[in-house]
Amino acid sequence: MKPQIITFDNIGSSALGYISVAEEQKNVPFDIKRVYWTYYTPQDVIRGGHAHKKLQQVIFAVSGTITFNTEDKEGKKETFILDHPTKGLYLPKLIWRDIKFSHNAVLLCLASELYEESDYFRDFAEFKNY
Ligand code: TYD
Repeated sequence: MKPQIITFDNIGSSALGYISVAEEQKNVPFDIKRVYWTYYTPQDVIRGGHAHKKLQQVIFAVSGTITFNTEDKEGKKETFILDHPTKGLYLPKLIWRDIKFSHNAVLLCLASELYEESDYFRDFAEFKNY
């Protein structure tokens, strides 16, 4: 699967509020081994700046807006904007990403692997030459 936005159903109403659900091998295309979240990222900071050798992720902006600029090994660049809690960005392995956050953004990530620093490319040239 290539990088893409997965739209998650929402259950509820504007009167009562909503719930959305992520389930492994149903609307998430892998088994979920790890969940992490980031918050209070200043608006002028660009995070990311890495790619993964093996990791797959589905990433949500549960609050606020998060913009992903991605590039694959062949040089294909894309922009994905997470601006609603029903939108999840699927990222397969080997996708370089830079990430920008609105002031109120909370990022939630579902990950296919446990944390392992050796899974990261933090050098763009090394990623491209891999
Ligand atoms: P990193 O993945 O580089 O964050 P971002 O892409 O948002 O800039 O991780 C930031 C730091 O947190 C880095 O020192 C590694 C650490 N970290 C963990 O220890 N465990 C984890 O599951 C994650 C995602 C990061």
